[in-house]
Amino acid sequence: DTEENLVERPSVVTIMGHVDHGKTTLLDSIRNTKVTEGEAGGITQHIGAYQVVENGKKITFLDTPGHAAFTTMRARGAQITDITILVVAADDGVMPQTVEAINHAKAAEVPIIVAVNKMDKEAANADRVMQELTEHGLVSEAWGGDTIFVPLSAKTGEGIDNLLEMILLVSEVEEYKANPNRNAVGTVIEAQLDKGRGSVATLLVQNGTLKIGDPIVVGNTFGRVRAMVNDKGRRVKDAGPSTPVEITGLNDVPQAGDRFVVFEDEKTARQIGEARAQVALAAHRGEKSIVSLDNLFE
Ligand code: GTP
Ligand code: NA
Ligand code: MG
Repeated sequence: DTEENLVERPSVVTIMGHVDHGKTTLLDSIRNTKVTEGEAGGITQHIGAYQVVENGKKITFLDTPGHAAFTTMRARGAQITDITILVVAADDGVMPQTVEAINHAKAAEVPIIVAVNKMDKEAANADRVMQELTEHGLVSEAWGGDTIFVPLSAKTGEGIDNLLEMILLVSEVEEYKANPNRNAVGTVIEAQLDKGRGSVATLLVQNGTLKIGDPIVVGNTFGRVRAMVNDKGRRVKDAGPSTPVEITGLNDVPQAGDRFVVFEDEKTARQIGEARAQVALAAHRGEKSIVSLDNLFE
C-alpha cells in the first residue's frame, strides 16, 4: 500500500490481565452491556471482539481470558492489537497472569496503558499496584516514567472516561492507518461449527475491506463469504479495517489465530485452500511435503 491509499482506521485495543481483575466488566461498562452475566462460572473462555464509538472515533476492543489455561489466547490478543489495556485489581495487585500479559505486550512491542480497577473497594491500593509494576518496567508518569495509569472502577463507571480519553490520545499519536480499497486480510478471532449455519468464524479485518461474495482462504479452509454479521448482531455487506465480523461460507472450521486472505476468483481460493489443507494433513502425519504455503499471508 502506498501512502496515498492509506486512511485512518480505528485502533485495536486488547484488554488483558489476571483472572477476575475485571476485564469483561470493564468492557461491559464501556459498551453498556452485560456479557459477564452470561459467562459460565464468570470466567471468560474466548476472545470477544467489540467496536464502540467514543467522541466520534471508533475503537475496536478485544477481551481476553485471564485464567491461567488461556496463554495462547493472550499471546494472540497481544499480536493483533495496537494497544494493550492491562487491568490490575487495586485490591489484589500484580498477579501471575498480570506479568504474563506484560510479557506478551512487550514481545509484541505494543504500548501498555494500565487500568487500576476496583478503586471502589475498601481494600483498593493504587500506590501498591504502581509500586509492583515498576518492578516490571512500567513506571507511572507521576513517578517520572512514561506509562499511563488510570485508576477506575468498572463497577461504578468512575474513571472510564479518562481511560477512553487516553486510548484516543495514544491512537492520535500513533496514527493507525490502513487501505480500505484492497482485498481484505486479517486474523481469525474464533471459529466454531454451528448446527444450522455450518462453519462460523469471527474475523478481525486488519487491512482492506471484506465483502459478501469474496473468495477467501482462511487458514487451511476456503470458501466464499456467504453472510456477515457485525458485533451488534446486525447483517452487514462489508467490513473495513479494524472491524470484527462473523462470517459463514467456509468449507471447514478454521482455527483461532489463523490468517485469512481474499482472492480475486473462487478457483484460486479453492486451489490454495485445498493445497494448504493437504500440507497441514501431511505435516500432521509427520510427512514432508514439497510445497510450503507459509508465506501466503505475508
Ligand atoms: P476473566 O475473564 O475470567 O479473567 O475475569 P475478568 O477479568 O473478565 O473479570 P470479571 O469482569 O469477570 O469480574 C470478576 C469479578 O470482579 C466480578 O464479580 C465483577 O463483578 C467484579 N468486579 C469487576 N470490576 C469491579 C470493580 O470495579 N469493582 C468491584 N467492586 N468489583 C468489580
Ligand atoms: Na471472571
Ligand atoms: Mg472476562
